[in-house]
Amino acid sequence: MSGEPLRIGLAGLGTVGAGVVRLLADNAELVAQRAGRPIRVVAASARDRTRDRGVDLSGIDWEDDATALAARDDVDVVVELVGGSDGPALTLARATLAAGKPLVTANKAMMAHHGLELARAAEARGTPLMFEAAVAGGVPVIKGLREGAAANRLHHLFGILNGTCNFILSRMEADGRDFADVLAEAQALGYAEADPGFDIDGVDAGHKLALLASLAFGTRPAFGQVEATGIRHVIAADIAEAAALGYRVRLLGVAESGAQGLFQRVHPHLVPVGHPLAHVTGSTNAVAVDGDFVGRLLFQGAGAGAGPTASAVVADLIDVARGRTGPAFALPADALAAAEAADGGERRGRAYVRLIVQDRVGVLAEIAAAMRDAGVSIETLVQRGVAADGGVLVAIVTHEGPERCVAAALERLHGSQSLVATPMWMPILA
Ligand SMILES: NC(=O)c1ccc[n+]([C@@H]2O[C@H](COP(=O)([O-])OP(=O)(O)OC[C@H]3O[C@@H](n4cnc5c(N)ncnc54)[C@H](OP(=O)(O)O)[C@@H]3O)[C@@H](O)[C@H]2O)c1
Repeated sequence: MSGEPLRIGLAGLGTVGAGVVRLLADNAELVAQRAGRPIRVVAASARDRTRDRGVDLSGIDWEDDATALAARDDVDVVVELVGGSDGPALTLARATLAAGKPLVTANKAMMAHHGLELARAAEARGTPLMFEAAVAGGVPVIKGLREGAAANRLHHLFGILNGTCNFILSRMEADGRDFADVLAEAQALGYAEADPGFDIDGVDAGHKLALLASLAFGTRPAFGQVEATGIRHVIAADIAEAAALGYRVRLLGVAESGAQGLFQRVHPHLVPVGHPLAHVTGSTNAVAVDGDFVGRLLFQGAGAGAGPTASAVVADLIDVARGRTGPAFALPADALAAAEAADGGERRGRAYVRLIVQDRVGVLAEIAAAMRDAGVSIETLVQRGVAADGGVLVAIVTHEGPERCVAAALERLHGSQSLVATPMWMPILA
């Protein structure tokens, strides 16, 4: 393929960075054809220069300071694969855009926290800011929203945005094991970080949800407004009860935009077994979005890993090489609306409530009274035998009603001597 190469400065040679080097080597000719010119890494930076990364780095210059990549005359585009919302990744991103160079990143944390500032900086210099790999790994959901669905009004999106949580929930489902047990296995297998908080507490999914909501609804990324509850408190019995009732438990990110404002929530849900998201297992990601003309779109595929994430990074590079770029969040940064956070309690739906209670007379009546007084109508109530700790599991499915009523019922039960564990509730996906 003729044409001047697009010269890349690559910051980060970890899972994704090494994957990008491998993809650009293995598919060099195909990528050059699709990009209209070769794409070549000319300089790279990571912490440890001596580490064997399993890829050929010969012919690639080394920079100890990643920020130096932005200033090099022989670098046309900087690819940031360091990670972290601030620190060296943000310093590099700012320096790259200030130098008027395109930035390609997989960094959802940085984009969720600083995306608006970076989009403004990119527009000020007329240079692209691309982040396809930041959401759902190899799945082209950002391109799908920004381009494929661009002609539609979008009001609602939801999906499985964290592969680690989905892996853990799928494993709990398949083996009947408890959360802590499966988390330890996931860590041993390298599917979960040593510090898994970002994943299991819903923060990572929240970063991605905030980016998708901005792209879909034309609002500023508002990670601070995401209500995030992770999967720490899901127990094996919840998964068994859900199955008996015809559901599977999935950690969903849900975003809606309407007259009430912008609603963004990450929370474990009960998903009907007949729903496509109930069949998304392991580390797969999936995002559903409803458009007024196109109907429902479902984007699904590998949400992480070297190959899929590198695929998304290089797709962005091909777009940069072809000049197929536009505003980072589909609209110019100043046109993005500053949406108020909607009050989640006003939402209506059915809910699953799980309580572990003492095995004695009157407890069920106390629960039923709390539900009644809070205005919650019970559709199904299941009581299971005495567990090892002496507790009895009570699982309730409510009729459709305002979510704030469920919260009020749990508030009424708070501190009751009848409860032997903190109750938990999950919305049921309609
Ligand atoms: N892993 C995935 O499946 C995946 C999927 C989607 C998005 N992402 C995003 O992609 C980014 C990279 O993730 P990853 O999994 O590849 O991370 P990783 O394996 O931990 O790699 C991070 C890389 O950054 C380098 N680094 C750290 N501090 C640096 C500094 N100050 N200057 C230069 N380089 C520095 C590290 O150097 P050393 O190798 O020398 O330590 C390492 O090569 C993150 O934003 C992540 O959220 C990852």
